[in-house]
Amino acid sequence: MLPTTSLLCALSLAALACGYPGTLEDRATLVTTSRFNATCHQIAAAISNASEVFYPPSPQYVSDISHTYASSSQASICSVEPGSADDLSKILRIIGSTRTPFAVKGGGHASNPGFSSTRGVQISLARFDKTAINSTSGTVELGPGLTWDQVYTALDPAGVNVIGARIPGVGVAGVTLGGGFSYKSNEYGLSVDNVVSYDLVLPNGTITSVTSNDTDLWFGLRGGLNNFGIVTNFVVKSYPQTKVWGGFMFYPPNQLAAVKDALVRYQRKQDIKASAAVLLNYGSGQLLVGSFLFYDAPVPPQGLFDDFLTIPTTSKNISTTSFADLILLFNQLNPSPGSIRNYFCGVPVTQYSPAVFDAFVNQTKFWGAYLASLDKNATVGVTLEPFDSGVFSHGSGSAYPPDRSQAIFPSVLGYTWTNASIDGIVASAMRKESAAIHAVALADGQNVSHAAVYVNYALFGTPLEDIYGQNVPRLRKIRAAIDPEDVMGLAGGFKF
Ligand SMILES: Cc1cc2nc3c(=O)[nH]c(=O)nc-3n(C[C@H](O)[C@H](O)[C@H](O)COP(=O)(O)OP(=O)(O)OC[C@H]3O[C@@H](n4cnc5c(N)ncnc54)[C@H](O)[C@@H]3O)c2cc1C
Ligand SMILES: *[C@@H]1O[C@H](CO)[C@@H](O)[C@H](O)[C@H]1NC(C)=O
Ligand SMILES: *[C@@H]1O[C@H](CO)[C@@H](O)[C@H](O)[C@H]1NC(C)=O
Ligand SMILES: *[C@@H]1O[C@H](CO)[C@@H](O)[C@H](O)[C@H]1NC(C)=O
Ligand SMILES: *[C@@H]1O[C@H](CO)[C@@H](O)[C@H](O)[C@H]1NC(C)=O
Ligand SMILES: *[C@@H]1O[C@H](CO)[C@@H](O)[C@H](O)[C@H]1NC(C)=O
Ligand SMILES: *[C@@H]1O[C@H](CO)[C@@H](O)[C@H](O)[C@H]1NC(C)=O
Ligand SMILES: *[C@@H]1O[C@H](CO)[C@@H](O)[C@H](O)[C@H]1NC(C)=O
Ligand SMILES: *[C@@H]1O[C@H](CO)[C@@H](O)[C@H](O)[C@H]1NC(C)=O
Ligand SMILES: *[C@@H]1O[C@H](CO)[C@@H](O)[C@H](O)[C@H]1NC(C)=O
Ligand SMILES: *[C@@H]1O[C@H](CO)[C@@H](O)[C@H](O)[C@H]1NC(C)=O
Repeated sequence: MLPTTSLLCALSLAALACGYPGTLEDRATLVTTSRFNATCHQIAAAISNASEVFYPPSPQYVSDISHTYASSSQASICSVEPGSADDLSKILRIIGSTRTPFAVKGGGHASNPGFSSTRGVQISLARFDKTAINSTSGTVELGPGLTWDQVYTALDPAGVNVIGARIPGVGVAGVTLGGGFSYKSNEYGLSVDNVVSYDLVLPNGTITSVTSNDTDLWFGLRGGLNNFGIVTNFVVKSYPQTKVWGGFMFYPPNQLAAVKDALVRYQRKQDIKASAAVLLNYGSGQLLVGSFLFYDAPVPPQGLFDDFLTIPTTSKNISTTSFADLILLFNQLNPSPGSIRNYFCGVPVTQYSPAVFDAFVNQTKFWGAYLASLDKNATVGVTLEPFDSGVFSHGSGSAYPPDRSQAIFPSVLGYTWTNASIDGIVASAMRKESAAIHAVALADGQNVSHAAVYVNYALFGTPLEDIYGQNVPRLRKIRAAIDPEDVMGLAGGFKF
């Protein structure tokens, strides 16, 4: 009963499963189309006026199915925007009883096909868009339809902040349910470490609230994404926020060695208010080298970032500004929804040693040149993100990270291209790059043989054990208890 056809099509695993005119498959598609549409009609008849069902080509439908990356989008039969937990409960019951494939979209930044898109019913959480500050409890309520830049902008006037993503457009939902690496994670942990409670619609439609008292769901929701139901509200801890210092720099290619030295030295400095990342990106025959720097105060300590700041740049935009405005500075690095295809692949390491850095450079150039020969729009990149050794010390047992005893630098490969015919080649190239870097890190003496891949960076097909490690059996047990009918299995994603 899984959405096999759409999944196979999306993953380009079997062109034959995608239906050609006049084939058996084509007739089967007609049957499923009318079955899925019957579910849409049933939903439309059941929901209150707080919610609405949309069909193509209405602008609401187009916006509901739209994703940052074209490879993460599919044409659903209809979309529905629930406006209340009650309506979402009715929707989930109908989906479960009709066994209709569906998807849940928060910010729509998923980098895997079919994880928040479907040929069935697209649920868009756009109407859950409230940010509410509770200064008595020091918490903020966040709707899963929000993006982090909206949250930071809403909180800015109150001088408080929360722990979320580093680039505008990224959704509150996927980040808070998957892990959540932030500029402030060295100081306060991941997004999952800062949740106080969840409002959750369980797979059987029951509406509930989950806190640390609900041992199993509390464990599972912190990293388990859409396996346990649909979250309609997050209550998260808030912190006072001053102005911050930061921005980005891009360097001429001949400064690569200086950037390597700067990163190698920087990662040993333990200042929990600091954050830095190095970007390598090969496109149009050239290697682009950049860095992002951040300090959680108006001025960084003398010397902390000097190794980066003294390298000659081709462009630079660093200033003291509000946290919200700093995030918006990265708008130019975030593609607008369109025809760009993109996959991520996480390559966890424990150190950016010179050998590992060189391997990333070599792999970036090698696969960049190879893919450009197939699609001149292809770019091959990686973000190297060192964290403090205590980054996982701010929280306790959760689905992700499965091991908090050592810090992991999650390191995300990001490949972009436009020709859908090479999707499979891209995925296979990323797996080869990942394996090559992993081998270099092992040879380098790093303890990465079981290092967990960050779920929000994991390429589809990554074994669950590589993401959730020793937690997999427990997560499977929790899922079986919470969702015995496997309703959430009708939606894509890494499934327990
Ligand atoms: C440009 C860019 C920058 C990024 N920066 C960061 C970063 O700084 N830190 C970081 O940690 N990660 C980062 N990521 C990765 C990011 O964590 C994931 O892409 C994340 O899944 C996006 O969440 P979303 O809500 O936008 O995505 P969606 O595509 O909407 O959802 C992602 C997954 O969550 C599920 N889901 C969504 N809403 C709900 C809900 N309410 N209840 C249950 N399940 C739900 C979906 O079904 C899907 O499986 C970045 C990604 C991109 C593309
Ligand atoms: C689904 O139903 C809607 C509303 O009745 C209709 O407009 C639409 O054409 C149907 N879609 C398909 C694919 O049959
Ligand atoms: C929605 O329904 C409620 C109760 O049935 C009604 O009071 C309200 O006016 C309706 N709102 C809209 C926008 O139609
Ligand atoms: C704010 O938090 C306090 C303490 O937890 C609680 O009593 C109060 O009801 C909350 N206020 C709102 C508006 O939710
Ligand atoms: C957990 O339950 C105890 C006892 O009922 C209660 O006092 C406490 O407030 C609860 N904690 C949370 C986070 O809900
Ligand atoms: C830096 O970014 C800000 C905000 O986007 C912009 O106004 C400013 O012109 C930029 N400065 C430089 C030197 O690029
Ligand atoms: C660069 O990567 C390619 C492809 O993996 C590999 O064949 C080659 O040996 C690497 N070169 C170096 C210097 O590591
Ligand atoms: C590259 O992108 C352009 C502009 O988006 C597009 O017209 C062209 O077809 C793309 N090339 C390939 C090989 O897909
Ligand atoms: C896309 O790639 C396929 C397979 O390599 C090729 O046949 C086709 O011409 C490409 N399309 C474009 C627009 O370049
Ligand atoms: C090595 O990594 C594993 C998890 O992958 C962890 O359990 C173990 O504690 C680590 N060993 C050291 C010495 O850090
Ligand atoms: C729904 O699932 C929850 C969690 O497993 C369970 O406690 C509850 O009894 C179920 N409700 C119904 C009506 O089956």
